[in-house]
Amino acid sequence: MNNFTYYNPTKLIFGKGQLDALPVEVAKYGKKVLLVYGGGSIKRNGIYDNVINKLQEINADVYELAGVEPNPRISTVRKGVKICKDMEIEFVLAVGGGSTIDCTKAIAVGAKTDVDMWDIVTKKEQAIEALPFGTVLTIAATGSEMNAGSVITNWELNEKHGWGTPFTFPKFSILDPTHTFSLPREQTVYGIVDMMSHVLEHYFHHTANTPIQDRFCEAILRTVMETAPKLLQDLENYAYRETVMLSGTLALNGMLNMGYQGDWATHNLEHAVSAVHDIPHGGGLAILFPHWMMHVLDENVARFKQLAVRVFDVNTSGKSDRQAAVEGIEKLREFWSSIGAPAHLAEYAIDQSSIEVMADKTVIARPEYGKFARLTREDSVAIFKAAL
Ligand code: NZQ
Ligand code: ZN
Repeated sequence: MNNFTYYNPTKLIFGKGQLDALPVEVAKYGKKVLLVYGGGSIKRNGIYDNVINKLQEINADVYELAGVEPNPRISTVRKGVKICKDMEIEFVLAVGGGSTIDCTKAIAVGAKTDVDMWDIVTKKEQAIEALPFGTVLTIAATGSEMNAGSVITNWELNEKHGWGTPFTFPKFSILDPTHTFSLPREQTVYGIVDMMSHVLEHYFHHTANTPIQDRFCEAILRTVMETAPKLLQDLENYAYRETVMLSGTLALNGMLNMGYQGDWATHNLEHAVSAVHDIPHGGGLAILFPHWMMHVLDENVARFKQLAVRVFDVNTSGKSDRQAAVEGIEKLREFWSSIGAPAHLAEYAIDQSSIEVMADKTVIARPEYGKFARLTREDSVAIFKAAL
């Protein structure tokens, strides 16, 4: 493996009833709080009332930014930045999923600079500091609750970019699996696909000697695949929800990629699709990942075979390495289809006509992308065509 430094300062507060920790954690940073949330699910399931009650325990002065969109918009970030500046907010609290948390990260940085946040998201300008912020997670998916990354969409430009800074780790994240009980089946599936995709993005690399990292990845994939079908039959099962919630966090909190870098081309491809068509992130990944795999298989057949054998129990007898590897990819696609994830772009009414524009978006930031296999615009077109 390569030399590395591991740094993750987020305090993870996990389990039933852990919202009780909220007042003490928030009070460390101040009482003027901006509460950020999405389209209203937290009002319907009671989490909003519980959070407000907890904040009242410390007599917090609470301001609100509601309506963060799935695939959060830079326009919403700007609204939050303005509230922080006008009201001299001391702490930002995200209550929701990856979209709300990512928006909060951008607000926290934007509150501390005069630079427009889109210039920081697109890396034209650098962040210098951030307001402290914390999260109460309501969907297991992105891992944003314990990483410094954020993904923001500019709908006017049809661009969606990931960015991050050393200051955008949440100070704390409260993960109560019961907060995910109300998550509909469809969103639960998208979250499962997303966390599995994060593991797969890590898994494909060329760095030698990563046995423990490989086994961590395989363990998460196997655990999620064992649990997901049971959870989807029983959405309010605490044990299944807690297993999936912890899996989502571990899949993207930096632990898996100690000593090497993952690929991340499929996320670049998906961000290009959702920048143009505003589809759910997990839905896009379910469609694209198997096609990326087939496209780059010959970069390292042995690695694909390892995944097929160790995660999908592919029997190799009488098969070439390549045949076994392809069978693993097919089993991944079958698993995602079996839990109801989409398999074709057409399921989101995306056809041939937008392939060129989506391919352009994959190379806006740089002409080549992906670490395991270096891809160009031409590869993007081929993968999108295969995924139609
Ligand atoms: O907006 P509300 O009304 O809250 O509804 C949300 C939303 O419609 C709903 N929901 C969330 N918790 C719920 C619930 N509904 C009922 N009960 C609950 N407990 O679920 C919908 C999706 O929420 P969202 O936050 O958009 O989902 P997710 O966590 O999948 O986040 C997706 C965003 O994160 C980015 C994606 O690109 C996308 O923009 N990503 C962020 C990453 C990161 N920061 O590390 C990495 C990921 O790869 C990803 O790119
Ligand atoms: Zn993702």
